[in-house]
Amino acid sequence: MASTTNSPSTLLTLPNFSIQTSTFLPKTSQRSIYKKKKPFNFNSKRVVSCKASNGKQNDAATSFLNRFDRRDILLGLGGSLYGATSLVRDPFALANPIEPDLSSCGESTVDTSKACMNVPCCPPKLKDSKIIDFEPPLGCKIRYRPAAHLVDRDYLYKFESAMERMKALPVDDPRNFMQQANIHCAYCNGAYSQVGFPDQKLEVHYSWLFFPFHRMYLYFFERILGKLIGDPDFAMPFWNWDSPCGMTMPQIYLDPYSPLYDENRNLEHQPDVLVNLNDGKSVVKQTNKKKDDFDELTKREQIKRNLSVMYQQMVRSSKTASCFHGAVYRAGCVSETDIGCTPEPRGGTIENGAHLAVHKFVGAKNPPYNEDMGNFYSAGRDPLFYAHHGNVDRMWNIWKTLPGKKRRDFDEKDWLNSSFLFYDENANMVRVKVRDCLDSKTLGYDYQSVDIPWLRSKPTPRRRRPRVAQGLDQGQDVAARRRSKNRRDFPIVLDRVAVRIEIPRLKKPKNKDDEEVLVLQNIQLDRNDSVQFDVSINDDEDDDNPCRPEDSEFVGSFTNIPHGDCHSEAMISTNLYLPLSEALEDLEIQREDSIVVTLVPKEGEVSIGNIKIDYVC
Ligand code: C2O
Repeated sequence: MASTTNSPSTLLTLPNFSIQTSTFLPKTSQRSIYKKKKPFNFNSKRVVSCKASNGKQNDAATSFLNRFDRRDILLGLGGSLYGATSLVRDPFALANPIEPDLSSCGESTVDTSKACMNVPCCPPKLKDSKIIDFEPPLGCKIRYRPAAHLVDRDYLYKFESAMERMKALPVDDPRNFMQQANIHCAYCNGAYSQVGFPDQKLEVHYSWLFFPFHRMYLYFFERILGKLIGDPDFAMPFWNWDSPCGMTMPQIYLDPYSPLYDENRNLEHQPDVLVNLNDGKSVVKQTNKKKDDFDELTKREQIKRNLSVMYQQMVRSSKTASCFHGAVYRAGCVSETDIGCTPEPRGGTIENGAHLAVHKFVGAKNPPYNEDMGNFYSAGRDPLFYAHHGNVDRMWNIWKTLPGKKRRDFDEKDWLNSSFLFYDENANMVRVKVRDCLDSKTLGYDYQSVDIPWLRSKPTPRRRRPRVAQGLDQGQDVAARRRSKNRRDFPIVLDRVAVRIEIPRLKKPKNKDDEEVLVLQNIQLDRNDSVQFDVSINDDEDDDNPCRPEDSEFVGSFTNIPHGDCHSEAMISTNLYLPLSEALEDLEIQREDSIVVTLVPKEGEVSIGNIKIDYVC
């Protein structure tokens, strides 16, 4: 279901997206770096203390919004980049599937707040190559992708030989490892325009293209590996990070002499450091560290938290296609006045959540680009990327088996007919449509069946609802405090202190099956910033100890990792949808007229235009 709750965002740019990037560059790249103005300076510290005085809040709001004004002015002076495109598009022509324009493929750009780096990522042009339409493989044999931590020696030998051969192919062979890595760079960092819309860059993240694109990218990668070792049934491993045994980087990728190794990783996150699926930072207690971080966890706690995060993202918050897959993204979609467009860049729960967290966890700490995994342009250079995305892809398969009438893929033509181009194992250029890849079994593969412990990791209420017997005084006090928090004006600037606000609930859903969602509208941020904040409802106001994913009160997080090609505006606007029904039920507050929303900033700074309750997602 497409969202029907578009915000009145005025600064929207397209989902012209890409991600963080780095100091390391491929030797072959003829890069050019030029200085880019950043009109303001973020001073983003992680903050946990709460309760801004209103005055403070307003100051912050003013200064944050001033920066927007300035950006607006810059935009105005520069002229409207996208204006012309709007005119070309027929707003009533709803058939606008996304398609990359191969002929226009140009250098990718990687933006940071200070500089712009150009990287050549286009696929090599082969003589007499014509594009053929993808046909799903014939045959009914299914190959099973194994969990990386469970493979045996024979398998590892095979996998390593395949990778070695892929790396040894001529550099201009489209099946060469670096060429494969560049596919990701090209589709995320603005190498392609959209067919019919030369001014519109194509971006496969933060929208409904995310799962299909990555599925087919891995599919061809795997087929090439299979071809190189003469085994068409070869299946790549997946990184089972959603299960306790898989929550560290898989061992097979860690031998420096192996073709599976990549030196551009965060060495501090080698095993047995556990991934943190909430935000990618390791917060497990280390003995040689001062224990002043409230966020430090034991391993057991981290595992429990990760499983709760998975439950949140896969079960509680992803009951519809739009929640799980992300926002609608149509060709030529420029502004929200375009009928049928949702230009808001918004990834689904897993994409924005565990997926980004793992990228952050693996990528090296070197600023500004955090290669390889910490930046989309370089992520494909780490062999671990393909195992990571194997698990992301596995989540799509699992999601479709979970109960709930609306856990179905979109059936919109613009999604089904969106297409991507890949070189196959025979170096033929193939056009794949989203409709070709909905079922992994049709493509001839599935995943080894392993335990899914997060299915049993439903969060529990941290605080039971106060009983009437606990005394009237306490109740009134709570009510009074809530009222006072309700005076806060929008936009809310969220930077260093937690913000609480009471939000009225709507009377009734239009349809009985509609999901009640908390909508944070017009979240404005600089896409070059790392941003994270957590959202909980009716917490117990213990500001030193905010709610965590294992608490029912916790309803989700907002995450941004720096991304963007140099053509897109730095300020972006997006919405966050957080389904509430399970939390309301667990907290036994289905009948209340309002809820109190707590926003806990963890990194970076955003402004939030409005918060409301709605019944769609
Ligand atoms: Cu294309 Cu994990 O990103």
